[in-house]
Amino acid sequence: MKRYLTVDDIGDLKQALAEAKQVKATPYAWDTLGKNKTIILIFFNSSLRTRLSTQKAAMNLGMNVIVLDVNKDGWKLETEFGVVMDGDKPEHLREAVPVIGQYCDIIAVRSFASFEDKVADYEEQILTQFIEHAGVPVISMESATRHPLQAFADLFTIEEYKKKDRPKVVLTWAPHPRALPQAVPNSFVEWMKEADVEFVVTHPKGYELAPEFSDGVKVEYDQCKAFEGADFIYAKNWASYSSYGEILSKDRAWTVDEEKMALTNEAKFMHCLPVRRNMVVSDAVIDSENSIVVQEAANRVVSAQVVIKRMLESLK
Ligand code: CP
Repeated sequence: MKRYLTVDDIGDLKQALAEAKQVKATPYAWDTLGKNKTIILIFFNSSLRTRLSTQKAAMNLGMNVIVLDVNKDGWKLETEFGVVMDGDKPEHLREAVPVIGQYCDIIAVRSFASFEDKVADYEEQILTQFIEHAGVPVISMESATRHPLQAFADLFTIEEYKKKDRPKVVLTWAPHPRALPQAVPNSFVEWMKEADVEFVVTHPKGYELAPEFSDGVKVEYDQCKAFEGADFIYAKNWASYSSYGEILSKDRAWTVDEEKMALTNEAKFMHCLPVRRNMVVSDAVIDSENSIVVQEAANRVVSAQVVIKRMLESLK
């Protein structure tokens, strides 16, 4: 595996899930695979789960891990091309990326959507620089458009908790005070389309995801109707794609609460975290026995370890 950016990079999902099960059961079975190999984790944006789980996954495989928080640790990086660099950014990404590639065997990078330029975000301008110039395999730890380590962990969690072969999974938009990227819902949709589930997305009008993700997906604008008979409720806020980056609604009638969960088939509640309590989900729901948000976060180590393990195996 040379890159991990989208669902296509993981290959056969059944095989990936079987490998995830094996990794979870015996996390230290490959603890010499990464001997004398280094992974650099580069963060343009904040993280708790991704940083810790990816680091833990690499350590389980015996790797050396270096973490670089671009906003705190290095020179401020210029990411635009053709600019006169007379401002406060002394280093260009174009040199920084191949240099970082000299110091490691795998690069993992987190770079969110800026919301300043829809085309630039959806062309993945920063991630593309790493793919083209790093000279080593690249893992997305959440890019402008996708969060594939999260989606893999989400699918694995659904696999662990499902009570029927083909569960009903509902992705619901929920209110939030800030404009959040579409990366998590985009990836979740991308993975659910490939998985053996009945999948429904519910959101207010104006929150339709980009066509490359939403095409072929059932959208139900009535949240209560969507929740009926659901086995999994996956809540997430995202900003509008059509009115790019805008908050069109903060309507707390969309908050996931006990009344709506009562419409489901005793659904498990999922969220990638961090989550705003009593905006996205009520205390009662996230604190209930059916909330599996912590177990879902725990599986981030598993998804990262499968991906890094495959990359190490392909380096041999
Ligand atoms: N879910 C997730 O990616 O969490 P962090 O932003 O804390 O890494």
